[in-house]
Amino acid sequence: MSAEETFVPSTSEWFYPTEDIVKQAAIQDYETVYQEAIADSEGFWARRAETLAWYQRWEKVLDKSNAPFYKWFVGGKTNIALNALDRHVKTWRRNKLALIFEGEPGDKQTFSYWRLWQEVNKFGNVLRSMGIKKGDRVTIYMGRIPELIIAMLACAKIGAVHSVVYGGFSEHALADRIEDAQSRVLITCDGAWLRGSIVELKKIADQAVHRSPVVETVIVVKRTGQDVPMQAGRDFWYHDLMALPIASTKCETEVMDAEDPLFILYTSGTTGKPKGILHTHGGYQVYTSTTLNWVFDIKDEDRFWCAADPGWITGHSYIVYAPLILGATEIIYEGAPNYPYPNRWWKIVEEYGVTILYTAPTAIRGLMRFGDAWPKRHDLSSLRLLGSVGEPINPEAWKWFYNVIGKGKCPIMDTWWMTETGGFLITPMPSVGLKPGSCTRPFPGIEADVVDDSGKSCPPGVEGKLVIKTPWPGMLRTIYGDPDRMVKTYFSAYPGTHWYLAGDSARKDEDGYFWVIGRIDDVIKVSGYRLGTAEIESGLVSHPAVAEAAAIGIPDEVRGNVIYAYCVLRQGHQGSEALVDALKTHIRNEIGPIAIPSKIEFVSVLPKTRSGKIMRRVLKARAQGLPEGDISTLEE
Ligand code: PRX
Repeated sequence: MSAEETFVPSTSEWFYPTEDIVKQAAIQDYETVYQEAIADSEGFWARRAETLAWYQRWEKVLDKSNAPFYKWFVGGKTNIALNALDRHVKTWRRNKLALIFEGEPGDKQTFSYWRLWQEVNKFGNVLRSMGIKKGDRVTIYMGRIPELIIAMLACAKIGAVHSVVYGGFSEHALADRIEDAQSRVLITCDGAWLRGSIVELKKIADQAVHRSPVVETVIVVKRTGQDVPMQAGRDFWYHDLMALPIASTKCETEVMDAEDPLFILYTSGTTGKPKGILHTHGGYQVYTSTTLNWVFDIKDEDRFWCAADPGWITGHSYIVYAPLILGATEIIYEGAPNYPYPNRWWKIVEEYGVTILYTAPTAIRGLMRFGDAWPKRHDLSSLRLLGSVGEPINPEAWKWFYNVIGKGKCPIMDTWWMTETGGFLITPMPSVGLKPGSCTRPFPGIEADVVDDSGKSCPPGVEGKLVIKTPWPGMLRTIYGDPDRMVKTYFSAYPGTHWYLAGDSARKDEDGYFWVIGRIDDVIKVSGYRLGTAEIESGLVSHPAVAEAAAIGIPDEVRGNVIYAYCVLRQGHQGSEALVDALKTHIRNEIGPIAIPSKIEFVSVLPKTRSGKIMRRVLKARAQGLPEGDISTLEE
């Protein structure tokens, strides 16, 4: 994929769903539903909220009095665990499979709703017995295993706020997030399986706790089984705690206000410090379940596989919460898509009869590279719908996914959204026509637009900034501990409005279809992971040899982007291959393997504006041998 290929604003090529797909779709007439939702947004969301269980009905759907700090379903009492678990075990669904787990080594586990509910209850009681109560933060740092989901749901059930840190982050990143959330409890595992080897999570967790002594208790799930040191009085095995009498299978669900916090999830922004995005029980449950229901058309007989990690927002919304709220059966697979062979995913699809597969362009491109023979060895006829998320999907990968995996009969739901938005904002539904590379049109209730710097709507084909003009129930409520930063980052680009600024540039075409181009801020998407240039730069500068650093994203065929870094060295240090290796190791330790630059170059100066801002645009152009554009503001 070249940068240009993604940027093509419109193709006249349409792909229409089959009659069968349209007939089954929850929403068959997008236009009418969209117009109804815009005409009476509060009535629309109230009707959606009525499909869920509440201890007490809300008094007001939306309180705008302190915008952009919106409140949804004001006065409503609920708990997302009431909807994801408690209500199902009172119906026939108690015996339905909720989770089908496959470990990378090939081990399998299944959980009915009844069993999952019991495990969550038991662990909720364990956490309560440790003094964790409503509002307390709990950090979770684990691999992709059922206990991660159990831990998250247990926190929700007792009213604790979970902060999940992706298992690919380093001790430093983990420590920062523990510190920011002030978590007294950390839940981790001995290790995680990845491509046949063990990622030693407990070891990393120990180092993080050493840096962040706020943690009093560490709960450790045994997954990989190697010896790990356990610190007496601080560290406890999960299985030991779950065997105690205190871990009863009955656990009262905490009654939460609709606006009480559910979780914090850290994401990258323009400055170095990660932002703790906060979501709440009420609006989030309504938004995630509605979007999943309508976009992926979930039915009781479906087997839904969202192949993301629960440690990212995609996993939070569309593995842990929405599928369970809808009473779906879902698949979780622990390991790498190409381990031990590039057919691992296709084998899983065949074995479990997966009907809906939701993944990321980087995974699709990665698997596409191995050729068609691998998927062709498997019966993929159970598939009905496909999905993509995380970055723009280039038409070539889209068509491969559509033709080779979906056999030309499974529409691809290219869902555009963000950690901050809670759920899909611009997305197809199964009944609409698709154009490869476009995320199509906004979900009902969402007023999206592409505007210029003055806020005027851009005409078709003209690039501008993607904004959302009105609030929606799944939107972030604040940045944890820093509400001003939320206003500044997302809601202050257009004075006199409360438009949400996504940070993406986009175009609309003549049909009103959106084409997302990419980030306009200093955020790089590497394999769909979101990294801030500032995080990588401060990571590099924390090495004793580096005085100054600049990081940029360069288009890459498989990963979307890779990182190039430019370093100015301190006096007395010489650039060498050994130093490149040392800096890569340093970044691995400071942030994690996902942030390692694929190229590090030593330079004597960085291109800067006269006011001292690094001109990453110039570095990017030079790295790709492209014209440097206007460099009149470049310092001598
Ligand atoms: O640039 C957009 C890109 O991912 C960013 C959000 O990243 P994150 O918060 O990590 O959430 C990713 C998963 C929801 C957006 O600002 N992005 C996400 N989905 C798409 C996308 N870009 C193009 N097309 C998409 N479908």
